[in-house]
Order: sequence, then structure tokens, then C-alpha cells
Amino acid sequence: MKNRAQYPVYLDFNATTPLDPVVVEAMQEFISPEFGNPSSTHFYGIAPRRAVNKARRQVAEFLNCSPSEIVFTGCATESNNLAIKGISMALKHRGNHIITTLIEHPAVLEVCAYLRRNGFEASFLPVDEHGLVDVRDVERAVCERTILISVMHANNEVGTIQPIEEIAEIARSRGIILHTDAAQTPGKVPVDVKALGVDLLTIAGHKLYAPKGVGALYLREGIGLEPILHGAGQERGMRPGTENVIGIVGLGMACELAAQNNEQDARHMQTMRDLLHTGIEKAVRDVRLNGHPEKRLPNTLSLSFRGIEAGRLLEEIGPYVAASAGAACHSGEVTISHVLAAMQVPGEWARGTLRLSTGRTTTREDVIFAARVIADAVNALRSS
Ligand SMILES: Cc1ncc(COP(=O)(O)O)c(C=O)c1O
Repeated sequence: MKNRAQYPVYLDFNATTPLDPVVVEAMQEFISPEFGNPSSTHFYGIAPRRAVNKARRQVAEFLNCSPSEIVFTGCATESNNLAIKGISMALKHRGNHIITTLIEHPAVLEVCAYLRRNGFEASFLPVDEHGLVDVRDVERAVCERTILISVMHANNEVGTIQPIEEIAEIARSRGIILHTDAAQTPGKVPVDVKALGVDLLTIAGHKLYAPKGVGALYLREGIGLEPILHGAGQERGMRPGTENVIGIVGLGMACELAAQNNEQDARHMQTMRDLLHTGIEKAVRDVRLNGHPEKRLPNTLSLSFRGIEAGRLLEEIGPYVAASAGAACHSGEVTISHVLAAMQVPGEWARGTLRLSTGRTTTREDVIFAARVIADAVNALRSS
């Protein structure tokens, strides 16, 4: 029955994406021969400097901001750290309270936990059963000490898209800075900083068909930020350190591609995701969808199989399908992800959760095959 190619079908695009060949081609020149330091004033600095400037324009155009509002970083984790610690430190004279949510990536949760250990207060907002934040909860959490709200654009596990525009209205009316972790959204839904109304926004190269080791932070003109790294003056002193020219060129090209193909890509990913979903649903019982039925990333499919242990399911399908679990088993103890826990997904379902995510390169054959493999494995585990 399972007789497909030698490599498992990749359905984990929310974890990372392969490099787009056009991105690889753009980077090639800066692997060799253009090795220069963009800060060098001599001949060898010229091409790398121009390339970094071009990438800054490409990213800015994609996000609908000015190139001077882009800070290149090493990853989404770094962008989140820079945004949250940077604003907190810069505004600590005004207040010490941060609002975030229970379903953020650890790259936000752990930053807030760190700040809490260092004199700040943080409110972690709950979500409903679809993983959606209630804007009224944001309003209720605001106090006169609140300096920053950080709410993710879309969740990496279940794909729920948050009402950032509405949260932005609250933030603006109270003079509070708003950051969003948009690591998961570029190329899937429009990411326009002006339409969203955010002051800071995080993106990562490797979720967008660019390489690992590069990210960016949108920092709205006029917002003061305390850098977390101190050194020479690169990135206007916001992120000193010699630029990752190869990665930055890749991120720039990836943004240009995403700007060109956003809608087409999103439609394709959604068609593949829905085909996968219906294929599985037709062949197994007791399966439920996590995440918002509509306000959800077009590529993300978090499914819970009642009574199944996700680790066992991943073992079964591993040679054929690459996916992630929503629960991890350590020394016989199953830990449910903090996202599913916040959504109050009952344990007997949450323990059997798979996160499947499609991408630009996912094919119809991939999802038809994967649906069959997953359904067979669930049915076999249930009857064993
Ligand atoms: C929403 C979100 N934020 C932040 C990160 C961290 O990204 P990185 O590991 O590139 O720093 C991820 C990665 O999965 C993510 O999904």
C-alpha cells in the first residue's frame, strides 16, 4: 500500500521551508565572489552594501513601510527579543506592564518571563476554544502602567489569525506600543504594517523560503528602542554586528517573491490543505480540527485523533510523512502543548494532535498519499 518515493512527504512548512531556487540564485553571488564587508569603504564593500540596501527595500515594499524602518536580525526569536526587551527598557520610566497571550511562541513567552524576573509585570491573555484572543480582554488588561502589547499575528500550531487591527485601535487610543510576531504569516496572508496598525513586527527568513539565520524587525519611524546587543553601528545601532549579507539578500528576494505570488500561493496551500483534511476525515472517525474554522492560516491543519498518542502516530507515519505533534512524550509522560492547553482541548483529544502544514511546493499527489498514510496509521493504532 505505502509505496511512495524514498523521502517522506514534507508537511511541516510551519517549522521551516525549503529555499526557493530564485532565492538560492540571488544569494549565490554573495557566497562567492562577493565576500566583502558592507561597511568597507573600498571596492569590495560596494556590492554587498548595495545588496543589503536592495534587500531592505524589498522587505520594506513587502511590508508596506519605509526601508529605514527595517532592522535585519538573526531570526524571529531575536526580532522578538529586540522588540519586547528593547521597548520595555526604553519605556521603563513610563511603566512596567506588558500584555501578551498564553499562546505565543516561546520566543515571546520566555522574553516576558525574563522581564518578569527583572521587575516588569506581564499579563497573559486567555484565548477561546478556537485560539482567538477576545479584544475586550485586551481592553480590560490595560492599566496606566502598560507600555507594550505583544500579540502574535497567527499561531504556529493551530493557525488562528488574531484581530491585530482591532487591538491596534486600543493600543493607539491609549498610547501603548503594539508588537506582533508575524513569523508565520508572510506569504500566507497579507502582512501590511499600516493596515495592521502595528508599531513593531517580526518576520523570519526560513518560514518564507529564505535561509535560516536571518530575520527582520519592522520598527515604526519615531519609536525609540534600547538595543540588546552593543557594538559597532550596523543597522543604525539597533542590531550591531557585521551583516549576514547572504541571508539578507535571500530574505529580500523571498519577500519580493511573496509580494508577487501571495494570493496564488495562499490559494494553492489552502487547496492542498483542504484536500488533505477531507482525505483524512473520510477515512477515520473521531477526528477534530483545532484552530479557527475561518480565521486561520491557509496552510495549517491541526487535527486531534481521539485516544491516539501523537508520538506513536508520528513514529508510524515517519517513513512516509513528516509532520509535527501537538503533544510531546517525555519518559512516559505526555505533555500537551501550551497552545492546546490554553484552548482547553480535552486531554484525550489533545494527546493525539498532529500539526500538518502545506507549502508552495506541496502537490496533490503528496496530500492524497499523506491522507491515506495518516488514516491507515490511526486506524491501525486504534485496532491494535
Ligand atoms: C510564531 C513564531 N514565532 C517565533 C518563532 C521562532 O523562530 P526562529 O526559530 O526562527 O527564531 C517561530 C518558529 O517556529 C514561530 O512560529
